[in-house]
Amino acid sequence: MNIPATEIDPKQFWLDPYPALKSMRAECPITYVPQLDAVLFTRRDDIAHCEPIIDVFSSHQPGGLMTRLMGENMMRKDGDAHRTERRQAFPALSPGTVKKVWLEQFRHETDQVLDELEKHEVCDLVTDFAMPVSAHALRHITGLLNMSTEQMDQSSQWMIDGIANYAADPDIEARCIEATQLIDRSIEEMSQNAQAGEASMLTVLIKSGQAQESINANIRLAISGGQNEPRDAIAGAVWALLTHPDQRSRVIGGDFSWRQVFEEYARWVSPIGMSPRRIAQPFDYAGVTLAPESRVFFMFGSGNRDEQVFEQADRFIVGRDTTKAISFGAGPHFCAGASASRALIADVALPKLFERFPTLSLNGPVSFGGWAFRGPLSVPVSLR
Ligand code: HEM
Repeated sequence: MNIPATEIDPKQFWLDPYPALKSMRAECPITYVPQLDAVLFTRRDDIAHCEPIIDVFSSHQPGGLMTRLMGENMMRKDGDAHRTERRQAFPALSPGTVKKVWLEQFRHETDQVLDELEKHEVCDLVTDFAMPVSAHALRHITGLLNMSTEQMDQSSQWMIDGIANYAADPDIEARCIEATQLIDRSIEEMSQNAQAGEASMLTVLIKSGQAQESINANIRLAISGGQNEPRDAIAGAVWALLTHPDQRSRVIGGDFSWRQVFEEYARWVSPIGMSPRRIAQPFDYAGVTLAPESRVFFMFGSGNRDEQVFEQADRFIVGRDTTKAISFGAGPHFCAGASASRALIADVALPKLFERFPTLSLNGPVSFGGWAFRGPLSVPVSLR
């Protein structure tokens, strides 16, 4: 293999991957990291160029952690097999359905969460606001109304811990399996009682004739990818505005939209920092030769800080041009929940929170964790 290697300290990388990613972009933007046993693509344009080449950068990873623990969902398929399952889920996730069906549900559930917060002076925005707002949205979208918000959040966390468990910790794996079993039981119960909404993923996938095994795998995927990311984006974007008061004032004053806040936050601290691929055939690119069966990580979080694409890439600047950001991916697997996420976060959660609590302020330290999935661990605030 002719790919230069870069060592990382896994603990430090989890706490803050950005300094190491910056050095990789500058020194060897395509690099093998032995601690992750993967070739990292760290530049935005390399990712955007290579991700669509699916006969080389394959999503089909039968031996990968996600397939082994969560089943073979659409994100682990290529070509027609992928397109078919994505099309079958589309009626539940399309922009039209978001507008006609989900937006009203999002507003209603978010108002209820805010009514509960009104009773308090202080709270943790991650657990008390962002978590239930995301979980209620996902209960409606998936159709699993029999799961509590806590179960939704915990299942999502246990699955993403499981699929990033490269150190093979048996407890993490056991919890991931427990989460998938809870989801399967919930699917079975809701399918029998026919209580899931008409537009929900469960109903539309059943109607499409998708195999039960794939329905379960795709709903598990939506929960693993659809809970933590909006949760982390909501809490993180609020924190970003609270720590940039000038930009907060301009958003409240109408100079910038909430969509611009969300897009810039997701560029700056990408909730999904990485998507893996399997090299399906030998490939020469940018002076390196990728060997079949090697593992590539497309580092979206790094591409979004690429200084060749974004000026002052390490700074949070609402209103900048984010059209080249790859927070939702850069190829055929572009996030199927992007429209729902934008509506939930930018049209509902952020504006409603600042409207209800105009003097919201931080009242404690905030720390972040993760590189494959990244977000604030807690955001303590005074509500008034
Ligand atoms: C801030 C929120 C979110 C972010 C940043 C995000 C980001 C991503 C990313 C980076 C990918 C992989 C793209 C690739 O490999 O090219 C992805 C895929 C996916 N996401 Fe999201 N996501 C979010 C919310 C959601 C929600 C709420 C849902 C469902 C309700 C969802 C469902 C999916 C699905 C089904 C896929 C696989 C698509 C495919 O394989 O074709 N995501 N997402």
